Amino acid sequence: MFSPFSYEMPTRVEFGRGAARRAGEEVKRAGGARALVISDGGVAGAGLLERVTKSLDDAFVPWKLFLDVEPNPKDRNVHRAAEDAREFGADCLVAVGGGSPIDCAKATSIVAAAGGRVRDYEGRFKAPVPPLPVIAVPTTAGTASEVTFGAVITDTAARFKFTVKSPLIAPAVALADPEMTATMPQNLTAFTGMDALTHAIEAYSCRVSTPFSDAPAIVAMELIGKYLRRAREDGSDMEAREGMLLGSLLAGVAFSHSDVASVHCLAEALGALYDAPHGACNAIALPAVMEFSMDEAVERYARVASCLGLKFNSPEEGARAAVEEVKQLARDLELPSLSAFGVRLEDFAEIGEKSEKNGSNPSNPKIMTKDDYVEILKKLTD
Ligand SMILES: [Fe+2]
Repeated sequence: MFSPFSYEMPTRVEFGRGAARRAGEEVKRAGGARALVISDGGVAGAGLLERVTKSLDDAFVPWKLFLDVEPNPKDRNVHRAAEDAREFGADCLVAVGGGSPIDCAKATSIVAAAGGRVRDYEGRFKAPVPPLPVIAVPTTAGTASEVTFGAVITDTAARFKFTVKSPLIAPAVALADPEMTATMPQNLTAFTGMDALTHAIEAYSCRVSTPFSDAPAIVAMELIGKYLRRAREDGSDMEAREGMLLGSLLAGVAFSHSDVASVHCLAEALGALYDAPHGACNAIALPAVMEFSMDEAVERYARVASCLGLKFNSPEEGARAAVEEVKQLARDLELPSLSAFGVRLEDFAEIGEKSEKNGSNPSNPKIMTKDDYVEILKKLTD
């Protein structure tokens, strides 16, 4: 028996080297005439904006730059970007960056069009009017925000990450250009790559997976398993950069049509409290949550193991091998431990509560309570 599901993929993907140089023509194709370019200082400093802004100039599209996006993008970033968009008369947003600028642009697309505060649009299908079109140009291979329906924003007063989710805020087009990811430093390649792997594993093993999310998740795991170490080791290895960007895109398609689960619940709680890098938090939580969920996900984790190229004699052995491989990967990529982010014992209860409250908590193969999260945190900080 197969469960009913629906499938929608509103974003057109243009994959290939040089795709970022078509931003100008894509603004026009989306019906735009004036663009707010949303990015951040890191992307600007890496010299990645010029090829996008030059293509806007070449297409005679007036543009204004907004660089005030923080990591783990904040509500205040969205409110300022929406104000800038309105003042400039922007009818289109061009997001250039990792997940933070792209999530900020997706949330801004609603607030600029409809007004109000970004938290007014928390949850699913809350866009009251058509949002501004977003052209997304990813510079990392991890979040896949360029193809997903959600924007994760931090409520700075509540220190809580919430999600605005609607197919209407999915970018009109993703210009997935592997050359834009080639200057990522090793740690960013590792963090974002582990985020992509977590998307694929959670989308595949969670309780709401469908055949249409399984298919991209499986290929995503194969690509990330093959290319993540290579991409981190040698950033100029363009085959590895292409493989990682494809893996990230497919993982994004997968979790958009399934969900993420408890690894992300914990990572988002940690990100909101300590401003810790999302991918690193995922990488730390992933093996621990897999161990916790093991008895409800043996067959699925065994398939994860085969996608990662492991050999085994029984599903149980495969599932355990998958957990060990994920741990090994984190070691090979030299990822930091949880203590590096200043996590404090007295915050554990609050982290557990926020994780349990996360909308993706019910999707985990084995449901986790706040106490289960606290137990995991204790093990991770031993
Ligand atoms: Fe993620």
